[in-house]
Amino acid sequence: MSSTPLADTVAALMPRARTELAELVSYASVADERQFPRSESEKAAVWVADALRAEGFEEVALLDTPDGTQSVYGRLRGSEGAPTVLLYAHYDVQPPLDESAWLSPPFELTERDGRWYGRGAADCKGGLLMHLTALRALREHDGAPVNIKVIVEGSEEQGTGGLERYAEQHPELLTADAIVIGDAGNFRVGLPTVTSTLRGMVLMELRVATLEGNLHSGQFGGAAPDALGALIQMLASLRDQDGSTTVDGLDASGEWQGLQYPEADFRRDAKVLDGVELVGTGTVADRIWARPSVTVLGIDAPPVVGATPSVQATAGALISVRVPPGVTSEQAAQALTAHLRAAAPWGAKVEVTQRGSGQPFRADTGSPAYTAMAAAMREAYGEELAVAGQGGSIPLCNTLAGLYPEAEILLIGLSEPEAQIHAVNESVSPQELERLSLAEALFLGRYAASKSGGGAA
Ligand code: BES
Ligand code: MN
Repeated sequence: MSSTPLADTVAALMPRARTELAELVSYASVADERQFPRSESEKAAVWVADALRAEGFEEVALLDTPDGTQSVYGRLRGSEGAPTVLLYAHYDVQPPLDESAWLSPPFELTERDGRWYGRGAADCKGGLLMHLTALRALREHDGAPVNIKVIVEGSEEQGTGGLERYAEQHPELLTADAIVIGDAGNFRVGLPTVTSTLRGMVLMELRVATLEGNLHSGQFGGAAPDALGALIQMLASLRDQDGSTTVDGLDASGEWQGLQYPEADFRRDAKVLDGVELVGTGTVADRIWARPSVTVLGIDAPPVVGATPSVQATAGALISVRVPPGVTSEQAAQALTAHLRAAAPWGAKVEVTQRGSGQPFRADTGSPAYTAMAAAMREAYGEELAVAGQGGSIPLCNTLAGLYPEAEILLIGLSEPEAQIHAVNESVSPQELERLSLAEALFLGRYAASKSGGGAA
């Protein structure tokens, strides 16, 4: 990294960033009370609010959003007439999954091989530390040259739309000239990247019932309609022989124009086992950025150990459908529901319930803020800025674009492929945190200069 006074300041702030990230990671802020107590999320929200107050933020508030969670808001005034930049992150995290599969406890930030491991370290508590570190660095060099608003969501990972609905009900709250979403990631470590598109998604819960109760699989099996068998048949109908997603009514022929993802790189990043093929057709970028994909996230069925030889009366699954820009999450939900109903064999009773959703998003990467970001990234990384798609979803992006059509929305962050977000052993690269914090600080300076120099408001 270049050695400039600002870069040196960011470097000196890194031990503090690590300490604070460890504090934040220690809260199991999974926004699902069935899994973790609400107090974990509340403690994280209070931590965020305190951190903003300590930076001199005003109007710091825990906002009660319609889904029963809290987002944290604050505002830092810059000079009169300076543009306003909104910084976004989320403090909620995905559940840790199998804690015994973690090499260190998920809620204890732990250094290993030059990375910091812990749930949410990259997605997205590290994103918040990036914002804080950038602002702290600027403060040591005459302060942020812009007006800053920060919004930190408390249920992004649930897709329950709390902050989206709140923002729609308070459209004046998040107005900004530019918005930096700190919840995406570089294409790979060391390659500064802005995200140009996100897929949308719907989470659907499927319940299948065929019998009043379970039956002996010898006494009744062979004629008794088996709910788990029905479920398996329905789920299998969502894919072709080659693994392509085949949801009736969802176009699967999209093609990605732009940066490509070489198959060998993808295999390495995804850690695909030797001899196992990728699924689908077209380029990797087509498949993960420009086309829908279905994933079965969980199945309710008896676990192998303890299962009795019986025909199941009921079974369930949680399914996600990702859709590229151009397809709404409502269209995806409708198509999947109709497909599953039509695929149900033997007159099995089927219930499909939507559990979460988010719209896809496409950024205008030609806007002036991107010029400032490209220069900032070049200085922080010594590399040219790349523009890449992302297959994940950040539902608020579409809401913000709808509310503030003039605002320039930029997506950066710490979720590069090695971070293994949503999986066990999630981690963040401290070098990435340092470079991105510097890049964000440089961006804020350059963005302010570009706005004042041109005489624009
Ligand atoms: N940070 C991710 C999205 C992401 C991942 C963007 C990788 C860019 C690169 C975000 O926190 C996320 O995972 N969102 C959920 C939202 C869903 C529940 C609606 C997702 O995509 O599963
Ligand atoms: Mn996530």
